[in-house]
Amino acid sequence: MKFFIDTANLDEIREAYDLGVLDGVTTNPSLMAKEGITGPDNILAHYKAICDIVDDAVSAEVISTDFDGMVKEGKALAKIDDKIVVKIPMIKDGIKAIKYFSSEGIRTNCTLVFSPGQAILAAKAGASYLSPFVGRLDDIGFDGLELIEQIVLIYGNYGFETEVLAASVRHSMHLIKCAEIGADVVTCPLKVITGLLSHPLTDKGLAQFLADHAKGNN
Ligand code: G3P
Repeated sequence: MKFFIDTANLDEIREAYDLGVLDGVTTNPSLMAKEGITGPDNILAHYKAICDIVDDAVSAEVISTDFDGMVKEGKALAKIDDKIVVKIPMIKDGIKAIKYFSSEGIRTNCTLVFSPGQAILAAKAGASYLSPFVGRLDDIGFDGLELIEQIVLIYGNYGFETEVLAASVRHSMHLIKCAEIGADVVTCPLKVITGLLSHPLTDKGLAQFLADHAKGNN
């Protein structure tokens, strides 16, 4: 299972990378705005800075919603670095753009996915990654993890190569359940990854080991 971090904050990306378990980064326009990154030149430069930290797979989202605009923007993003994955929304022109980029050998991440039907379309168009939003479905009383299960089953039935990238993963239990289901990738805030570290018996056991060692050395 791959771990992506869902942020545009360079310090958090560095911290996650230093942990040694990071496989990529996802961003979206909201996350870029949160870091105060505005204007085309600053946005491209920020993506380059992210690419310089990690080994692969930096999702950079297009803003256009028409085919020509998405292709133009996606090409500019892909030129930044081979690590860029062009992130494209699940809309009609988005599917066409995914097909186009797939034929050009440019990786894509189809985002804002909330149904199995959307997942089938994106895979048929040749998306490299598919981003179903687990937490946002949970927010409105639907079962986000059930959607991941459905998509993993469907993709398995047909051998689709599109990787299931569970997004909007809000807590460590979401991550663990995605692992049980067999999602290829999760993207989440750093605290969800570091949350996997915690167990009171680990803390208690370590304190005891260190205390016993200290006694033996007195
Ligand atoms: O990047 C897309 C997704 O991970 C957003 O998560 O928590 O804003 O629903 P969230």
